[in-house]
Amino acid sequence: MIRILTVIGARPQIIKAAAIHRVIKEKYKGKMEEVILHTGQHYDDNMSDFFFKELGLSPAKINLAVGSGNHGKQTALMIQGIEEALLSLKPDAILVYGDTNSTVAAALAGSKLHVPIIHVEAGLRSFDKAMPEEINRIMTDHSSTLLFSPTQTGVDNLVKEGFDLNRNAHNANNPGVYHVGDVMYDNSIYYANIADDKSTILEDWSLAKNEFILATVHRDNNTDSVERLLAIVNAFDKITKDRNIKIVWPIHPRTSNLLKKESYQSVKSVLDNNDNLLLIPPASFFDIIVLEKNAKMILTDSGGVQKEAYFFNKPCVILRPHTEWVELVASGHAILCDANFDKIIDGVEQLLSKDLEGFPPVFGNAHAAEDICRIIYETLA
Ligand code: UD1
Repeated sequence: MIRILTVIGARPQIIKAAAIHRVIKEKYKGKMEEVILHTGQHYDDNMSDFFFKELGLSPAKINLAVGSGNHGKQTALMIQGIEEALLSLKPDAILVYGDTNSTVAAALAGSKLHVPIIHVEAGLRSFDKAMPEEINRIMTDHSSTLLFSPTQTGVDNLVKEGFDLNRNAHNANNPGVYHVGDVMYDNSIYYANIADDKSTILEDWSLAKNEFILATVHRDNNTDSVERLLAIVNAFDKITKDRNIKIVWPIHPRTSNLLKKESYQSVKSVLDNNDNLLLIPPASFFDIIVLEKNAKMILTDSGGVQKEAYFFNKPCVILRPHTEWVELVASGHAILCDANFDKIIDGVEQLLSKDLEGFPPVFGNAHAAEDICRIIYETLA
């Protein structure tokens, strides 16, 4: 029996882990055992526990409860806890997702103990090392044994960094790179109809199909600067007024905590004076899927939400200067507008004035998790 230690900590990782968890439970009974460790990076119910229940994930066997804090301390506490778990559980491999502090902590703890690291969502690059996520991705990829890239661009990036595609018998000195598609696409397809049945979000907020815009803003470089957040919110304010449309914004705790500060008063007053700017609590996965499917368009700085916009054929204004999901921009259905008032207004105009057709299937065939599990099993068995 192969034992995998899955390390998750942030909300999107719980969602990504659900796809592989499903496949292990359904197809690898008696062959692979998955033990879940939650670092506690996200701890609010509506950022964590709720997703475990909604997506049918087994409860975490270990929760390190590290909570929020400076990145160094947060990551260090995670490394310490993960190392202890590795020593007592002795897994055959450690499975990590994406690019958060929880990801890099697990990669560092695993590599010190020579436990093979499996990185799902490998190879993505924004080429901006000021983003904490960029450092986390690079360090995790370069300590991994199995690297699963959702896109061809991700594979190409890894080759440019010296990874060799023609190796087998994988170990830390001989890593394997695979282009498998995106587990988030698996999930969006798997849950799209289930979410329609279960979610009441449209009724709860009196939203009509195609008559609202969905927005999310949580990146530290957008939220930690009052000027940038104000530029974004001013653009949202203008869009609701010019187009007489609601903007629905499920608000990340990072952003809502900042809005309580005196220094964010200017942002708060724009929000308080516009009834069409609808701030709602963090949405569940089913709720966000339903919001994405029914929105007229999406404005976001989230990596996951910009892709889900594409999965559901919605135009997207990306509130960042660059993206690691370059396929979205290349398709013409997403535009990079940063936190720039004029660019956001112009981006919305451009996207809404053209007919949308042809969202090429660049994220796989919705069976990424099955391919990943098969390769893990073949490699480790
Ligand atoms: C983290 C990831 C980011 C990912 C995001 C998804 C890193 C460096 N960043 O960012 O890549 O896109 O998760 O959501 O790992 N907070 C709460 N309750 C919670 C969690 C957070 O109130 O359950 C608040 C705290 O004020 C905290 C802040 O949010 O300080 C930031 O949380 P943190 O986990 O450090 O980063 P995220 O912004 O969530």
